[in-house]
Amino acid sequence: MRVELNVNIGGLYLENPLILSSGILGVSPGLLARVANAGAGAVTTKTLTIEPRDGYANPVFVDLGVGYLNAMGLPNPGLKYFLEELEKQRESIKVPVIVSVGGGSLNEFSKAFSIISGYRVDAIELNLSCPHAKGYGLEVGGDPVLVGEIVRKAREVLPKVPLFIKISANISNIVRVVKSALDAGASGIVAINTLKAMAIDPYARKPVLSNIYGGLSGPAIHPIAVRVVYELYEEFGRIPIIGVGGVDSWRTALEFILAGASAVGVGSAIVKGDIGVFRTILRGLEKYMIEEGFKKLDELVGLAHEVNL
Ligand SMILES: Cc1cc2nc3c(=O)[nH]c(=O)nc-3n(C[C@H](O)[C@H](O)[C@H](O)COP(=O)(O)O)c2cc1C
Repeated sequence: MRVELNVNIGGLYLENPLILSSGILGVSPGLLARVANAGAGAVTTKTLTIEPRDGYANPVFVDLGVGYLNAMGLPNPGLKYFLEELEKQRESIKVPVIVSVGGGSLNEFSKAFSIISGYRVDAIELNLSCPHAKGYGLEVGGDPVLVGEIVRKAREVLPKVPLFIKISANISNIVRVVKSALDAGASGIVAINTLKAMAIDPYARKPVLSNIYGGLSGPAIHPIAVRVVYELYEEFGRIPIIGVGGVDSWRTALEFILAGASAVGVGSAIVKGDIGVFRTILRGLEKYMIEEGFKKLDELVGLAHEVNL
């Protein structure tokens, strides 16, 4: 039996549900092409801002064993520069490219949308959830009114492009933020970004990261991310959701799908360069589907909700 792993998520067609998450190997079109060749169904760029950013001073990254803590500070070469480079190398990337955009205000996002309208992009992800770039994350993404205004503006300038918002689990009003984004025309939700966290060096007797706070990713946040996806499905029914957080195996990917995600992001699992994980997860999903008698991945979306308590 052949199984079908393809998905249509918010108008974006993917050959398989695995998406390279923003910020990991997404800093250059060449690296995006490598990840696409390794089996990803789509790739997301590093978050791009209108002006180039250098990011924070070292240390910006620490391996905690249960996951990673980072406070890179959204280093990027600037939106326009990246889109120019992407256009030159677009043919070498064989899957859809999702452009991640960051901004600190409606005005900044508006400018970013105007810039993007001059290029061909497959989909846009609004990063409204960075836990460490001051003014660029939770301050924006925690405000349902502002989120609605930003999405409405995106829809005015870019009416047809699949548009996702990436949310945090660090806010208390997730449902209101998501509702506001969907009402304003967002195609879907990416859940979740890293969680605000910190580590302290006992000998230096001070925080490890130069920025003090960072974002926790990897296995430690997986159950929290699954809970968020599950809650969104409970609240909104089947909406396009990309589940992100600690995916490193077919099981962790499938948990998101059963919770209600139609696609799954992979980030930390490839921080150490193992892009083979995409094919390993896909093989695992296929094997599971054959053994359990499912033909289409789509049939599995949200199945964990069919529970009689
Ligand atoms: C080093 C690093 C850089 C990241 N940069 C970004 C970024 O630029 N934009 C963004 O939306 N998320 C960024 N993230 C968050 C990831 O896209 C993802 O949401 C998070 O790490 C959880 O998934 P994971 O556990 O699979 O890594 C970054 C994560 C890491 C580890």
